[in-house]
Amino acid sequence: EKAVGILGVGSFVPDKVVTNHELEKVIDTSDQWIVERTGIRERRIVEPGQATSDLATKAAERALQDAGVSAEEIDLIIVGTVTPDMFFPSVACLVQENLKAHKAAAFDLTAVCSGFIYGLITGSAFIKTGTYKKILVIGAETLSTITDWNDRNTAILFGDGAGAVVLGETEPGYGILGTNLGAEGAGGDLLKVPAGGSRQPITEELINNKLHYIHMDGNEVFKFAIKVMGETVNKALAEAKLAASDVTCLVPHQANLRIIQSAAKRLGLPMEKVIVNVDKYGNTSAASIPIALDEGIKSNRIKNGDVIALVGFGGGLTWGSCVLRW
Ligand code: ACO
Repeated sequence: EKAVGILGVGSFVPDKVVTNHELEKVIDTSDQWIVERTGIRERRIVEPGQATSDLATKAAERALQDAGVSAEEIDLIIVGTVTPDMFFPSVACLVQENLKAHKAAAFDLTAVCSGFIYGLITGSAFIKTGTYKKILVIGAETLSTITDWNDRNTAILFGDGAGAVVLGETEPGYGILGTNLGAEGAGGDLLKVPAGGSRQPITEELINNKLHYIHMDGNEVFKFAIKVMGETVNKALAEAKLAASDVTCLVPHQANLRIIQSAAKRLGLPMEKVIVNVDKYGNTSAASIPIALDEGIKSNRIKNGDVIALVGFGGGLTWGSCVLRW
């Protein structure tokens, strides 16, 4: 079995900033409420004409550059997203063409906010077995396009962005040491976009009832997230034969500061060891972990030899964690 590592990281967010104060003008909310309950201060939103594959391509270009790997070397592109440009072709195929990564196979994967972790662990299996040598794993979303901007339960939470990594072989003892993935379909109703698929194809009535937007039971998702984040990290750590005290940096899905704080507490990790940028970007779904990872590296908070735990949870319900030695 080959050791699999992250050879390069890149991210991209749209220029347009939407602050809590701007939301105050549209919905019955306040900057103070949003900051206290979520830690979010502002988010980035795409401009008309800008789509998920545009963000994904820019993040991927930066990851390739960081890794010193050319697009022609890429064997496979996996994109975790629930906001593709269209049903098909996949975002991964659009990115393949944008990058001219002609050798690469390409597919999208649906695991909502766990999409990047699912993609990372799926990609790593191809390298472990020697099937592929270089893989791009991307988390890219434009949740703003499926958010009801008049619904204060959801509009305050989400933002757009993309993050990418290049996976490849690394030195033994480094890279991915332990992983865990899970799902609980029974909780699917807690977080969903009800219409627009084969169960309820779009009609005018469905649009009037806003069933093509995100619907969420925030309180239940909150409880689920707090429970599952610690559990999945502990399972990945056990596989890596490490303890929570060995973790030098936790890179959690950025959904809500209180969820992140509670997960850190359950793992016994001080907040100094946790990457947080939910204040700047809100919840960017599958993009949030690679964006936070990129920030952690660029700000020198993640260094050679560190033990990093990535952890995500999301609709499905789904969750996952990946422990690496950097
Ligand atoms: N502004 C002002 N007041 C609000 C707002 C708002 N935006 N939203 C709700 N309120 C009110 C409610 O009406 C309620 O009022 P009431 O007490 O008079 O009924 C009060 O504030 C408290 O509401 P709660 O829903 O209990 O607030 P809570 O502390 O649970 O915070 C939140 C809500 C932020 C949504 C929280 O539950 C949460 O973050 N949940 C997790 C959501 C999440 O992470 N989703 C994404 C998962 S990842 C993925 O797959 C996309």
